[in-house]
Amino acid sequence: MTQPEFRQVDSPFRSHVAGVGSYLPEGVLTNKDLEKLVDTNDQWIVERTGIQRRHMAAPHQATSDLAYEATLKALKMAHLTAQDIDMIIVATVSGDQVMPSTACVLQHRLGCRTIMAFDILAACSGFVYALSIADNFIRTGMYKNILVVGGEVLHRFVNYKDRETCILFGDAAGAWILSRTEASNPQKIMSSHLHADGGLGELFVLPGGGSRMPFSQEVLDNKKQYVTMKGREIFKNAVRTLTQCCHEALDFNGVNATEVDWLVPHQANVRILESVADHFEFPKEKVVMSLHETGNTSAASIPVAFDLAVQEGKIKRGQLILLAAFGAGLTSGSLLLRY
Ligand code: ACO
Repeated sequence: MTQPEFRQVDSPFRSHVAGVGSYLPEGVLTNKDLEKLVDTNDQWIVERTGIQRRHMAAPHQATSDLAYEATLKALKMAHLTAQDIDMIIVATVSGDQVMPSTACVLQHRLGCRTIMAFDILAACSGFVYALSIADNFIRTGMYKNILVVGGEVLHRFVNYKDRETCILFGDAAGAWILSRTEASNPQKIMSSHLHADGGLGELFVLPGGGSRMPFSQEVLDNKKQYVTMKGREIFKNAVRTLTQCCHEALDFNGVNATEVDWLVPHQANVRILESVADHFEFPKEKVVMSLHETGNTSAASIPVAFDLAVQEGKIKRGQLILLAAFGAGLTSGSLLLRY
């Protein structure tokens, strides 16, 4: 990984995580359900991915609907209302529509003021990208409370005749409220590092419906409206890149891995996460994993895994948490925070 020159904004302000929330739609697709759709079986899926089920949005639900539910929970924890939010970022690859943005739909539904709202597309790294953007807006002193959401209704972009991809993905949303705090507060975002390697973009693609390949009958006939991936190549790159991201965050902060209470990585595949733990020399029991229940929910995966770990009483206030992300692009990033 070639390192860009890096320095953080020098400021009296930092962001702390005031509230978190997540939402998993009620519908569930189990491995047994998938056995009826493609040539696969529960044992293969569990052994090769760790996934047992994934949640599926109902036909009437789009990404902003999931984001809305997650946001209400995050606002409640933060003791804030929609009126207190100064900016909204939604990380997604499966927004309600191409435009307007899902963030704008969410802003209206929440009843916010006419605050800045936009989506970002960095696939499975989207939430860490969005947190980093929000953190920098807070560090500059421009905004006080920022809503950051990772939300996906990915199942609408998956071909349920392609056994390599359809077993992996699920729908979910997770939301965080970042609020301004003093730089002297230990409970804050300490650093974020983001990367992309566009040269490896072809490993995970959703080609149809953009300006290069607008929708046509041919696009639909050739199933170009669905994700395609080179799973084995992604696997190798994910392990290497996630491990580098973890080291980068700790090296920058002069922190030892033994000081980290929880690693919350993008939930792609249990074998990827176990391999990262081995390479990073980090105890597997301190790696937060929820993908048995959720599958890979792309931009939603880190905030959902984080919130479920909070609900289970694993992640507690004051702990040191390392987020590590990897996704299509290929994008990657890390964020170290004291919760
Ligand atoms: N059920 C049964 N057999 C299957 C299935 C399935 N669902 N899918 C593939 N196979 C078969 C293959 O056809 C192959 O058969 P062959 O040996 O006869 O050719 C065999 O299983 C082994 O295939 P591999 O691709 O080597 O299997 P692997 O162990 O690599 O697992 C998997 C495949 C699960 C896709 C894995 O590579 C993976 O998780 N990759 C990462 C994918 C990912 O995370 N994508 C998300 C996008 S980016 C991101 O989120 C970070």
